[in-house]
Amino acid sequence: MKPTLQSVLSSLKEIRILPILVVDDIDLAINCVTTLAEQGLSAVEITFRTPNALNVLREVIKACPDVIIGAGTVLTQQQLEAAAEAGAAFALSPGITPQLAHAVACSRLPFIPGVSHASDLMLAMEYGFDVVKLFPADLLGGSRLVKALAGPFPDVRFCLTGGITIETMPHMLALPSVMCVGGSWMCTADLIDAKNWSRIGALAAQAATAARDSSPDKLSRPLIV
Ligand code: 3PG
Repeated sequence: MKPTLQSVLSSLKEIRILPILVVDDIDLAINCVTTLAEQGLSAVEITFRTPNALNVLREVIKACPDVIIGAGTVLTQQQLEAAAEAGAAFALSPGITPQLAHAVACSRLPFIPGVSHASDLMLAMEYGFDVVKLFPADLLGGSRLVKALAGPFPDVRFCLTGGITIETMPHMLALPSVMCVGGSWMCTADLIDAKNWSRIGALAAQAATAARDSSPDKLSRPLIV
């Protein structure tokens, strides 16, 4: 059965960490995703940032059926359709355009648009999205920006990505409007190229533990997704 937006969001809300992969080699990608999943990070984003990204996406989905695989850096209708055809569970974009939002409306693929300021967020809400990716979160002000946006947009939930680290993620996850954080810090291109699965596993385990310590039951207000 195809995942729904609701089921994808429920999983992300539970896992709270979305590793982001920029990888062009199928075997390396499968090894990396397997390592992350072994440590409890069972949802990942594979970005459309490499020439072979679509094949990587397709093969990782086949090899790792228990992992929720999202397609990231989806900028165009063509990429959205390719992600759906490859079997992605969901897609994300660093931004939002009317053209892409229309394509999403015609597609059944669960989608999380990117925003970087209030106007983007209002555009996303006009298209019916209330869960968005805030990118690049660290550069834009991190938790201070999230707190500021939570004032006028109390019902929006954020997936924060861009410059997140193991040091900053607990502060982000402690905010009531943050659904999850994403990033590449536990699976950098260098670590993947070096096939350093033990280090990737250790960083993933550290992230999973930190996420558990920032669990929603410690939050003052429940997440609504
Ligand atoms: C993204 O696509 O969200 C970012 O490239 C991830 O950012 P990071 O590499 O700084 O974690």
